[in-house]
Amino acid sequence: MYTEKVMDHFAHPRNMGEVEGANGVGMVGNAKCGDIMQMFLKVNDDGIIEDVGFKTFGCGAAVATSSMATELIKGKSIDEALKLTNSAVVEALEGLPPAKLHCSVLAEEAVRAAIDNYYARKEGKAEECNCVSCGHDHESEEQKAE
Ligand code: FES
Repeated sequence: MYTEKVMDHFAHPRNMGEVEGANGVGMVGNAKCGDIMQMFLKVNDDGIIEDVGFKTFGCGAAVATSSMATELIKGKSIDEALKLTNSAVVEALEGLPPAKLHCSVLAEEAVRAAIDNYYARKEGKAEECNCVSCGHDHESEEQKAE
């Protein structure tokens, strides 16, 4: 049912986990299957994705597609990452069963959501720290403000 590539990324996910100092974080979910995917980007001043990570609460194909998506955008520019499609992820995984194609859509959406958050933060339209763990020391910041 699954290609070797899918099984490899499922068994050995690349770039799994949060990224310290991430400046773009997006979370998406699929209401039907209940799967959730969170994407962390660390974009440098030149607009290059220096580091990327993901956390996925979902099926094996969702883990494999998020893992592959991170590999495809790591080291790329934001503009290139925006062009990432779910079919490019599926192609890189050498195919997915039709019933699992929506998992790759989730990966594409998670990347877009993280990029949206990166731009929103830059424009001051989003909280800098709307993520679960962004590396900021909120407690001492609050103390300083008192
Ligand atoms: S079954 Fe929903 S993302 Fe895989």
